[in-house]
Amino acid sequence: METFKSPMQNKADPISFSEMSIASFGFIICLVLSGCGGGTSTSTAVTTSTGISEYTTLNLTALANYAKPALPAHYDGNVTALDNTPSDNLASDRVATLGRVLFYDKRLSINDAISCSSCHQQASGFDDPRRFSVGFSGASFTTAHAMRLGNVRYYQPGNMFWDKRSASVELQASQPIQHAIEMGFTSSAGGIPALIAKMNASAYYPELFAFAFGDSVITENRIQQALAQFERAMISASSRWDTAFAQVFNPNANNRGLGTPLPGFTAEEDRGRQLFVAGPNNGGAGCSACHQMPTFALAANSRSNGLDAGETLIFKAPSLKNVALSKAFMHDGRFSSLEEVVEHYNSGVKLGPALDTNRLAPNGVPLRLNLTAEDKAALVAFMKTLTDTTLTTDPKFSDPFKK
Ligand code: HEC
Ligand code: HEC
Repeated sequence: METFKSPMQNKADPISFSEMSIASFGFIICLVLSGCGGGTSTSTAVTTSTGISEYTTLNLTALANYAKPALPAHYDGNVTALDNTPSDNLASDRVATLGRVLFYDKRLSINDAISCSSCHQQASGFDDPRRFSVGFSGASFTTAHAMRLGNVRYYQPGNMFWDKRSASVELQASQPIQHAIEMGFTSSAGGIPALIAKMNASAYYPELFAFAFGDSVITENRIQQALAQFERAMISASSRWDTAFAQVFNPNANNRGLGTPLPGFTAEEDRGRQLFVAGPNNGGAGCSACHQMPTFALAANSRSNGLDAGETLIFKAPSLKNVALSKAFMHDGRFSSLEEVVEHYNSGVKLGPALDTNRLAPNGVPLRLNLTAEDKAALVAFMKTLTDTTLTTDPKFSDPFKK
């Protein structure tokens, strides 16, 4: 893979932290107002900080529910078993609310230009409509396509990034902040300590950390925990497929009801479902062997899907929930339509050391599905039923900052 470079290999950007922290609006406000919080508060009481209410629309006396989501019956123990939440970062509404602020805060970039949400946009299923994302400088681009974040908690191994180089959602969270193209807090710009100094001087973080963690100390670990809790709350269980499947789901049935025709689906969508679920030996396309239902997160043991001959990197994919809201597909965004994706699996799989030969080259030769035009269209129609507008419009995942 030539275009895929680890973002950590990119060179540092010259903009320095000192210029930026002085330019930070929150920093200036804090010099003007008294009681901005200086790292000494130990209060866990609900706060009515001027900073929080001046900058955000949060109501800390009526928090959104992140910790105990109501899930349909098909999100049962089989799904819970895939959850990558570590025992030392169980969700609380307070910490996840802090995570929401962090996710949308442009101050997490060195020049207050972009936030996580600039590249992970709620309306696109937390994807970026652009093939490559623009970093803080406005002039440099990522070398990989951004990833949708729905159902990130159900990739059981917990590794993050297309090439799985980050071990957990927590550890991933501070990577974009330190990235030379993405948010710019590189080591030469002061790194995470410089960000923490900026946050300590802000009008709202000391009190928000006290609200979330019981004291106002800001650490990298806490930033990671809060962002991870917010991201893991992004569960997708309300697509049209979920609503239909809920009606036929039966934990005791053969294949839990996944083989059953779905109420309300068109004939084409239901044909697509059949192809997605059934293996190539049973007239299907074998997609769900890797893109596991009902979360559509990737199976732990999936290997690469044969995009490039000789590929050595084993890639993961984000959940296919909301995939039809994306405009670029695969780690380098090489495909611009779901039709091209289906054609790849139909006729384009290439051999290489990382290829999942069990599923995609069972006899040592790349699988050729020989799908008809109707069947290819049916697979695309099926993937469109995975669009979940509950996730893409839920206010609890929206920007909490006042405009
Ligand atoms: C400039 C654009 C950009 C910004 C800003 C950004 N990301 Fe990303 N994000 C990406 C790209 C591109 C990838 C895929 C990178 C790769 O695999 O090398 C990605 C991948 C991820 C993943 C991996 C998902 C998975 O299933 O493996 C997570 C989680 C994530 N980002 C969260 C965040 C958080 C949290 C922030 C803010 C602290 C953030 N991102 C800021 C572009 C961005
Ligand atoms: C061997 C496991 C495997 C099988 C089988 C498989 N996929 Fe994938 N799929 C992957 C992997 C791995 C990726 C990410 C590849 C990359 O970007 O390098 C992926 C990526 C995708 C993407 C792009 C996701 C994104 O966010 O860009 C779509 C869409 C997709 N697959 C659909 C399908 C369909 C439809 C089928 C059946 C015809 C299928 N897959 C079969 C493993 C598999």
